[in-house]
Amino acid sequence: GSCLESVKIAIDAGYRHIDGAFVYYNEHEVGQAIREKIAEGKIKREDIFYCGKLWNTCHPPELVRPTLEKTLKILQLDYVDLYIIELPMAFKPGDAIYPRDENGKMIYHETDLCATWEAMEACKDAGLAKSIGVSNFNRRQLEMILNKPGLKYKPVSNQVECHPYFTQPKLLEFCRQHDIVIVGYSPLGTSRDETWVNVSSPPLLKDPVLNAIGKKYNKTAAQIALRFNVQRGVVVIPKSFNPQRIRENFQIFDFSLTEKEMKEIEALNKNVRYVELLM
Ligand code: A2P
Repeated sequence: GSCLESVKIAIDAGYRHIDGAFVYYNEHEVGQAIREKIAEGKIKREDIFYCGKLWNTCHPPELVRPTLEKTLKILQLDYVDLYIIELPMAFKPGDAIYPRDENGKMIYHETDLCATWEAMEACKDAGLAKSIGVSNFNRRQLEMILNKPGLKYKPVSNQVECHPYFTQPKLLEFCRQHDIVIVGYSPLGTSRDETWVNVSSPPLLKDPVLNAIGKKYNKTAAQIALRFNVQRGVVVIPKSFNPQRIRENFQIFDFSLTEKEMKEIEALNKNVRYVELLM
């Protein structure tokens, strides 16, 4: 229920881009929130930009469209605005989201990312996804798609971890050259949940530079971290279930950072991930 409420609060606050996934197990709540806001007359479907994700167990080409159709059924929407391959590695298809063998080792699955991509292209042609992209792809994996013989559509975006402690300078430059938008996840430095976050890296929002710059503009470290990425063309997808912080994270369009401040924040890069994706 908290996701339903949060999405409604976010839409009221002005958010239009919603980043979702089947594996978040809340697409039914996101869909309900969107449909309620449409029924209220607050928004139209075309105002919303919903991103869905193809999970690792669904990479075989014949599974791609049925998986997206399942997401659309859960959302009760006719299309997603963006559908992305969530990770470049595939797991064994089946009901287990994290398939493991008797020793607890992940069971991977050999698939051809290019074949998966062709199935993604077919979803766009069928009108089930307006755009298609990828996530957690490195340069080599992007090049594999970009250089695929007979490529019909390039990935429009690559969603990766991106924030002042992990600024992704090389990947950002490569993506800029190829007109691929970087969507930065964990833009606030994550929830620091030890089950999936490398907490040995210090908390981003305690950073003295971000806090000092925030003081100057009467903004929080979170708002500075978000503004930094937006100002250099990186899309941000902050997560919050707290109404006040949801609104706070949207108040980043009424000021701009100077070039010197942008450089100071860029210099915070530690090149260390919070989300190591060890599986
Ligand atoms: P909460 O949901 O209680 O607001 P990320 O977007 O990098 O994954 O970070 C999400 C984490 O940051 C969540 O734990 C969220 O907690 C917290 N968070 C979200 N917005 C803010 C903010 N403006 N200030 C401080 N913490 C925030």
